[in-house]
Amino acid sequence: MMIKRFGDGRDWFFKQRFGMFVHWGIYSVAGWQEQMHWRGHMLSKDYVIYKDQFNPVKYNPEEWLDLVQDAGMEYVCFTTKHHDGFCMWDTALTDYKITNTPYKKDVLKMLADACHRRGIRLGLYYSCPDWHHPNSINLGGNHQLPVPNPGDQPDLMKYLDYVKGQITELCTNYGEISEFFWDIPPRMDIPEMNAILRRLQPNIMIDDRGYGPGDYSTPERCVPDGQSFTKPTEACQSVGAQSWGYRVNEDYYGSRFMMHCIDKVMAMGGNYLLNVGPKPDGTIPEQAADILRKVGTWYKKVKEAFVDCETCPELCGSGDYMVTRKGDNVYIHFPKGLNSCGYALNPIAVTPKSAVLLNTGTKLTTTVEHMPMLWLTGKECLHVSGLPVETMQNECAVIKLEFNPGWEEFIWK
Ligand code: GLC
Repeated sequence: MMIKRFGDGRDWFFKQRFGMFVHWGIYSVAGWQEQMHWRGHMLSKDYVIYKDQFNPVKYNPEEWLDLVQDAGMEYVCFTTKHHDGFCMWDTALTDYKITNTPYKKDVLKMLADACHRRGIRLGLYYSCPDWHHPNSINLGGNHQLPVPNPGDQPDLMKYLDYVKGQITELCTNYGEISEFFWDIPPRMDIPEMNAILRRLQPNIMIDDRGYGPGDYSTPERCVPDGQSFTKPTEACQSVGAQSWGYRVNEDYYGSRFMMHCIDKVMAMGGNYLLNVGPKPDGTIPEQAADILRKVGTWYKKVKEAFVDCETCPELCGSGDYMVTRKGDNVYIHFPKGLNSCGYALNPIAVTPKSAVLLNTGTKLTTTVEHMPMLWLTGKECLHVSGLPVETMQNECAVIKLEFNPGWEEFIWK
């Protein structure tokens, strides 16, 4: 099954499937969580002082991009303004911005230039709520401070003008922008917002958390059920369980868990945005980098099983595995883990000309036979065996089957 393409410049999204999400802001100084201001029950006067302590002297976007490439990723999505309202670029529309910290430099500009030099796509995250701007609307609900800041003057039209001005800056001054990740749906339909983005950046993919429907959906911190997405999707997850921003004592996930999540989402036809939270000095925590490198080593070996592939819910047989395909090449995925040294791959009933475990290059044995557990069907099916089940426990296994043309006639009717 092929998820419908747009037929325009946005289709980069279906080829470049793996990106790095970066949550970086003045909250990294506290090293607790990116929503420190709200979840940490802080008063604004106590929070804003992080601005005067933010001085990432070791920030080097080239090092971030080395990691992006080690991880096999092809785009970066950067938090320009999180809920705290602090702007990580040199906006002309507020003083609450990076160029007014001791660091003074426009970190977004540095990242954008480095991305464009390397041909790595750049996406921008922008939070709809704003806990600092005096005109933003704070009804004390979810993702809002419990009490407005002293001196606030809530004014929806003025705030929307501010947002329009900011997204115009972001889509004008930083070269090509490939993705726009609005966050926290404002539950208002304002078509002009996405129209501004599309007018300034015709190839931009826009998510579904903004002021209109957008191009793709954004399952967060979860692995959806099913065998195939029906529309463009980009799942996102952080390397740690508690935070997207830098957290000193983060509960980091294992790389094996991440590989299984990524495999499932991508085998369903989705993209994956894996997040890191750089430290206040500008470097990416070593534990996070380590996860990305391990994931990257795996991803580069199995990537062909995702790029330009169709999802194949009709070939998923027992449900212990998932299937993707590109022409006569069929890929078998094990996002629930490789649990036995052989698998019966109904409803396929023909042997491929080759069968290889992509992770190791191991050649596998294939036969077509009656399998005891499928005896009721009365049909023979493809049996793959020789999988190194005892040693393949740290990666997500992917098998490549290369069939001769005409193999589809042997799929059970
Ligand atoms: C949630 C969190 C936010 C994070 C985002 C990433 O919306 O509230 O902190 O930036 O997820 O998708």
